[in-house]
Amino acid sequence: MVGADLLVRNVHLATMVPGDAPYGAVRHGAVAVRDGRIVFAGPDRDLPSGVAAGAREMDGGGRWVTPGLVDCHTHLVFGGNRAAEFERRLSGATYEEIAREGGGILSTVAATRAASQEELVASAEARLLLLAGRGVTTVEIKSGYGLDPATELRMLRAARELGTRTGVRVRTTLLGAHALPEEYRGRRDDYVTLVAEEMVPEAARLGLADAVDAFCEGIAFSPDECARVFDAAVKAALPLRLHADQLSDQGGAALAARYGARSADHLEHASDDGVRAMAAARTAAVLLPGAAHFLRDAHVPPVEAFRRHGVPMAVATDLNPGSSPLLDPLGALSLACVVFRLTPEEALAGMTRVAAGVLGVEAGVLRPGAVADLVLWSVGHPAELAYWMGGSPAWRVVRAGSVIPPAQVAGGVEAS
Ligand code: NIG
Ligand code: FE
Repeated sequence: MVGADLLVRNVHLATMVPGDAPYGAVRHGAVAVRDGRIVFAGPDRDLPSGVAAGAREMDGGGRWVTPGLVDCHTHLVFGGNRAAEFERRLSGATYEEIAREGGGILSTVAATRAASQEELVASAEARLLLLAGRGVTTVEIKSGYGLDPATELRMLRAARELGTRTGVRVRTTLLGAHALPEEYRGRRDDYVTLVAEEMVPEAARLGLADAVDAFCEGIAFSPDECARVFDAAVKAALPLRLHADQLSDQGGAALAARYGARSADHLEHASDDGVRAMAAARTAAVLLPGAAHFLRDAHVPPVEAFRRHGVPMAVATDLNPGSSPLLDPLGALSLACVVFRLTPEEALAGMTRVAAGVLGVEAGVLRPGAVADLVLWSVGHPAELAYWMGGSPAWRVVRAGSVIPPAQVAGGVEAS
């Protein structure tokens, strides 16, 4: 085999390749990288001869390596924040009441419309760097706080720029159907038409959206309205996602499945029929325990039914100012286990392999051919990634074969 550019040795691997070993684990392993892709991931003793010649070698000091984390559902570009709304909710107001009064998402819309692209990038970059320092190498970023064509496109441009500035792989999603903007009150149909006939084709034409999402909920859009947005996305050849059955059972899971959506997300109130439809359509469930926790929702998604029917489960932060101000991917893993009762292995697969599938990126596993996004963690076992609350065990992050300077990795101050 020809020489690698980078060779990571003296590590244990959580390859996350499905198979017999939990976590796809390989003890005493090595990873070889060439031109940004993995060319070998396996037991060190099986390293093909010639690979090490000329390679930069990294001694992992017995740490664990996982694929780079993939946070497949965030709203990390926004103006302002909603700490005051948090205080109101704690004195008794509900998320839905605040939304119906014109607060909630719409208050973030006002702050986002008032922000320039540079301001949006600057505030979001700080948040993205926190995720990146905690092991995220791919992130999905939604629009949805603009709700007019210019601001929705500005959000998507800001998201693209964040990718260029930080080096984190960014996938963008147009979420024009997130809430009904004030100026369209009483004219719902006209707004859905604006999303379907203007925002979706324009975002597609400009190459600014990699997918289209909608919020199917009593306080947002009906299944029929979401279907109109989906029809436009299908026409534009963009993959679909759906905020489905978060606060009530709207038949969102079944709608997402009917359209062959990549994922249905949230799903606290998904019905058994919805789960079956998702399984048949191979639509993944994206679980967002940060939102359930922060909204103090007693409902949990039907995890046992997802397992029984073989619906892949992803886990994401849902980072947003209203329902999940969660800047910590490992925090999402912890909540997924403690609140939703996933196993640590399911949770980690949900933020690596399954999430990569939702976004359509060739990452999320350590195997030849995959993008060389790796994280070396200062832990004694991969279950610890979902176990500690707080702390920053990420020691080194490698993105597409490039080692990120340790100063940019939270907790990367440990002597090597
Ligand atoms: O994923 N559910 C809808 N959208 C976001 C919340 C948006 C907000 O409250 O600002 C979510 O939870
Ligand atoms: Fe969301």
